[in-house]
Amino acid sequence: MAKTLTEYVCQSCGHRAPKWLGKCPECEAWNTLVEEKIKGINLSRKTGSDSFDKKSIQPITKVETFAQDRLITGINEFDRTLGGGLVEGSLVLIGGEPGIGKSTLLLQSMGQMARSGAKVLYVSGEESPAQIKLRADRLGVLSDNLLICSEICIEDILHMVDRVQPDALVFDSIQTFFTVDLQSAPGSIGQVREVAFKIFQYIKKRSIPALLIGHITKDGAIAGPKSLEHIVDTVVYFEGEKGHSYRILRAIKNRFGATPEVGVFEMLSEGLVGVENPSDIFLSERPADSPGSIIVSSMEGSRPLLVEVQALVTASSSIGMPRRMSAGFDQNRTSLLVAIMEKRLALNLQGEDIFINIAGGLKVSEPAVDIGVAAAIAGSFRNKVVDPGTVMIGEIGLTGEVRSVMQLEARLTELKRLGFKRCIVPHSARKERLLNKNSSLKLVPVKTLSEAFDAVF
Ligand code: TYD
Ligand code: MG
Repeated sequence: MAKTLTEYVCQSCGHRAPKWLGKCPECEAWNTLVEEKIKGINLSRKTGSDSFDKKSIQPITKVETFAQDRLITGINEFDRTLGGGLVEGSLVLIGGEPGIGKSTLLLQSMGQMARSGAKVLYVSGEESPAQIKLRADRLGVLSDNLLICSEICIEDILHMVDRVQPDALVFDSIQTFFTVDLQSAPGSIGQVREVAFKIFQYIKKRSIPALLIGHITKDGAIAGPKSLEHIVDTVVYFEGEKGHSYRILRAIKNRFGATPEVGVFEMLSEGLVGVENPSDIFLSERPADSPGSIIVSSMEGSRPLLVEVQALVTASSSIGMPRRMSAGFDQNRTSLLVAIMEKRLALNLQGEDIFINIAGGLKVSEPAVDIGVAAAIAGSFRNKVVDPGTVMIGEIGLTGEVRSVMQLEARLTELKRLGFKRCIVPHSARKERLLNKNSSLKLVPVKTLSEAFDAVF
């Protein structure tokens, strides 16, 4: 008797179970398991020696290669993030929170591409053609080469794609499409994966690039697009804080790019505008002579960004439970730095509320900003101002030592460009022979956090 092959898939984390369960054993979410048909392997396919193609295994030197052609989207910051344009036949996932600007970015960039002659098909399961036209008009990218379609059945869509033969495809968003092969609703993990896989197979045969938009919530609760990360060639995330106009496009995986690159945009009423020199902007509103404000350098892709760290330390009103909050910087890392300062520098921060903010709504995750965060906290605590022409670079170890950072030279070049006079650097900079006395930038190498504080306060 033929067995019906179904399984239950958690819509929150993607865990698979043979039986229905009320609570997912993996992520412990309730009521998230949904029945899905197992996509069987075709058992009638011949296996074994006869079907084995000699070409399947070959010396790497004999593999045929071809130059990867890239389509230039016309939006510099987007091309940079993709590693120099859209590679033909590649599948790109653009993830981000709803409303962050994913549709805007793709409509704008694909519209530009269409205006320079490429035929682009924009398939939207979220908006009507009239809505898309209104937006494209506002963005100034109307073009006869930009084809619009509001359809959600992937089989129908691919059938149409065959007829129009576009140079590039956009799917907005992957959560709205469905395949007739599965019974689950659009947006379920099974559908998202299957639809993406169909698109993947389709474009690889024809060498058309495709961009998939995927909505992701802050805590990554919708695991759908996350589960696609291993299928697609490139994953870029669009980040930013609502209420701030800056947006960062971050490539976290790129099969066709050397380094994980970053693009910086400003969201204006006429759409997204690339920011060529982000440091200038992030530092433009810096308060003069204010305790608790430090300039640090964070490497974003191949670009060193200078950003302002702000700390506010105030006596806590709740005994035993001081508040520790950070925006744009890892909360745990803040706690660690506070612990190091308490232990190694005998700074008594126990009864203090500590707030950290990275100005401009930016997120920094690099260890090189440690020293700046620590100095901002100490500065606010002791009410001491650091000279505004000073930048601090260095990772802090658990014994309070200042550790080396990558690409120090590139960071220093950016400092010089912006006219900074002094930079606290890890002691290892001595070995790297970066301490050029005649330079307009004075480097102060330090071994420990306490040496660094002596130098700036
Ligand atoms: P959108 O691209 O629709 O977000 P997503 O596709 O990621 O859900 O962007 C929506 C927001 O962007 C909306 O709040 C309005 C804002 N926006 C601008 O500020 N300027 C513009 O030119 C456009 C088109 C949108
Ligand atoms: Mg959208």
